[in-house]
Amino acid sequence: MIDGTDSPVQHLRRLSAELGVELLAKRDDLLPFPLGGNKVRKLTAELASLDAAPDLVISNGAIASNHCRTLALLAAEHGFRSHLVLHGDRDGETRALALLDATGATYDVVSDPADIAPTIDARHAKAAARGDRVHVVAGGCHTRAGAIAYRDAAVAVISAHRPAWVVVASGTGATHGGIAAGAAQLADRPRVVGVSVGRIAERGTAAVAEAARWAGADVDVDFRDAYLDGGYGRHTAATASVVALGWKNGLPLDHTYTGKAMAGLRDMVGTGEIAPGARVLFWHTGGLANYLLEGG
Ligand SMILES: Cc1ncc(COP(=O)(O)O)c(C=O)c1O
Repeated sequence: MIDGTDSPVQHLRRLSAELGVELLAKRDDLLPFPLGGNKVRKLTAELASLDAAPDLVISNGAIASNHCRTLALLAAEHGFRSHLVLHGDRDGETRALALLDATGATYDVVSDPADIAPTIDARHAKAAARGDRVHVVAGGCHTRAGAIAYRDAAVAVISAHRPAWVVVASGTGATHGGIAAGAAQLADRPRVVGVSVGRIAERGTAAVAEAARWAGADVDVDFRDAYLDGGYGRHTAATASVVALGWKNGLPLDHTYTGKAMAGLRDMVGTGEIAPGARVLFWHTGGLANYLLEGG
């Protein structure tokens, strides 16, 4: 990441008026690194945690995954190679693959999820046999260093702004788990709600709890899977209307991640679970690339 600043916190005045709460956004979509969002915070921490510079970093994710794209660009910046095991169908993903190609990343595309782990293992073994120093990053950067980076960011932003609620998109878990661990350190702690972008509650909750433990806290995970809207990478008019509401009020949202998180937030306000006038921190995790690459 370019040295200098963390992401800004913004008071969303128009959306606050629209929803009837005091809505702040932690703009991790604006970390000083293009298009990566929360993956920038996690991956920079993961790379910084290594004892020695790698020759090759291997990871996996969906073809249009922010994690893989961010790793590819960080690898190009730092001067190590990246190899990505991408899961999905190349059709309709030309532009996402072109972005990876532009960085010099190499990749396999597998259609069966069962092929992901063996493909990683084979690439790892081949590179290690050549004498390369190889580091494998768990998909989504679901790592201890990633969770700790989010814990530390959460302590800073919650201490400074004292929200009653924090709402965040929750996927592989370390973003939500790290934030929950950070909140758990504070006397005047907010409720931290993760809105699932793909997993059902049982699996998602376990991954978030694991990440919180890595960051030093046993937390009661609040993980909501009511806004999946068809599943990971899918949506209907329900999510689309929330994404449109964001853009109309100057907040870029996407249909895969932040739109679902905002749908959860809006519902919690609508049902009265979040009281009128409450201070709410929406942790914006990025997703602009997904919005721009949709259908391409
Ligand atoms: C834009 C965006 N938001 C949220 C998430 C979920 O983050 P995590 O995997 O740490 O739960 C991701 C993960 O891919 C993401 O790319």
